[in-house]
Amino acid sequence: MAVGPPGDVLSEISGSSKYEAIDGRGKAAVPGLVDCHTHAAFLGDRAKEFELRCRGASYEEIHQSGGGILSTVAATRGGSQDELTAAIRRHLGWMLEHGTTTAEVKSGYGLDYETELKQLRAANDAATRSPVDVVPTFLGAHTVPPEFTYAGDYIDFVVEEVLPEAARYAGAADVFVERGAFEVLEARRYLRACARHRLALRMHGDQFSERGAIPLAVELGARSVDHLEATTDRGTKLLARSEVAAVMLPACALFLGLRYPPARALVEGGAIVALASDFNPGSSFCESLPTVMNLACTQMGLSPSEALTACTANAAHVLGIGDEVGRLAPGYRADVLVIDSPDWRHLAYHLAGDRFAAVVKAGQPMRYDRSPLGQGAEWLPKEVRRRA
Ligand code: NIG
Ligand code: FE
Repeated sequence: MAVGPPGDVLSEISGSSKYEAIDGRGKAAVPGLVDCHTHAAFLGDRAKEFELRCRGASYEEIHQSGGGILSTVAATRGGSQDELTAAIRRHLGWMLEHGTTTAEVKSGYGLDYETELKQLRAANDAATRSPVDVVPTFLGAHTVPPEFTYAGDYIDFVVEEVLPEAARYAGAADVFVERGAFEVLEARRYLRACARHRLALRMHGDQFSERGAIPLAVELGARSVDHLEATTDRGTKLLARSEVAAVMLPACALFLGLRYPPARALVEGGAIVALASDFNPGSSFCESLPTVMNLACTQMGLSPSEALTACTANAAHVLGIGDEVGRLAPGYRADVLVIDSPDWRHLAYHLAGDRFAAVVKAGQPMRYDRSPLGQGAEWLPKEVRRRA
């Protein structure tokens, strides 16, 4: 993109007459949002479990009784790759409605060879057929599937059988370090193997209990540790002084009624701080980064500009694309949100408002096509007509 007064910009763009002008007078523009932590590759839903939680059951109790992540694993194993691609495209469309122009998509609802690869292939496939850019992550160690009794045996299987093929379709690997999922010893073995396959390393850590995720991330030079609801002072300091990014997911804390992560202490300590939706059917059925920004400001003490940086430039850094997206600057992809207000802070301030005057993806103004009932809806470049 080129940035500057209209006359200068137009003279920089060759053949500029074919470009469409958007009248942004009296409005504000920010970079397209980058969601660096989503579990968008799933089938089915968990509305039944949501009701159980409303009646008092906890997320961890549901997980321990074989529901939770494993119920989405069963639903995702049961569908075809085409069904999964369609589901991901639908989820990406929802995200774009809320200003997300780049999203990470994790696997982790397969936990067997076929389904982990089906998820990663579907994510890549959806990427070619959605305006939202997709960055796939291999979450091969999300939890222990029913076929295995011991977490260590499952890690052996994943590393030997699944990882070599999965690494062809993903840029990063992720693991859930938690009681009932994987301990640090298993996570270290899995992540080291993933690093040998040239994957960047991410971790779900300190969501319900602090059990060594941050020291392990620092030891291995991971890109990020995500969640941090249970992080104490020592972990906060260690993470803040490191190059490992702190990815916070306040919609998940809201959804599960957890304590919010220590955002202020992380920022003051010098941490690289990012925010993400954690979009998934169980712990955060929320695709709206503006809502996440509002929670970060009202519940975690971030300023609107800290929240915006955390959902744009810093999130892009976590995904390894910090020199491509997340800034309105020359050379960056022209992903732009024009906010229907002269004050960009409305993005965080207008709770569930998300009022955009225009959404521009890679230089292309987009429009949302609300199709006839039953046919779904999709985002299309503005001038493209839907096929009859
Ligand atoms: O980030 N905590 C682990 N994984 C997801 C939840 C996945 C699910 O419940 O389906 C999370 O919260
Ligand atoms: Fe997650």
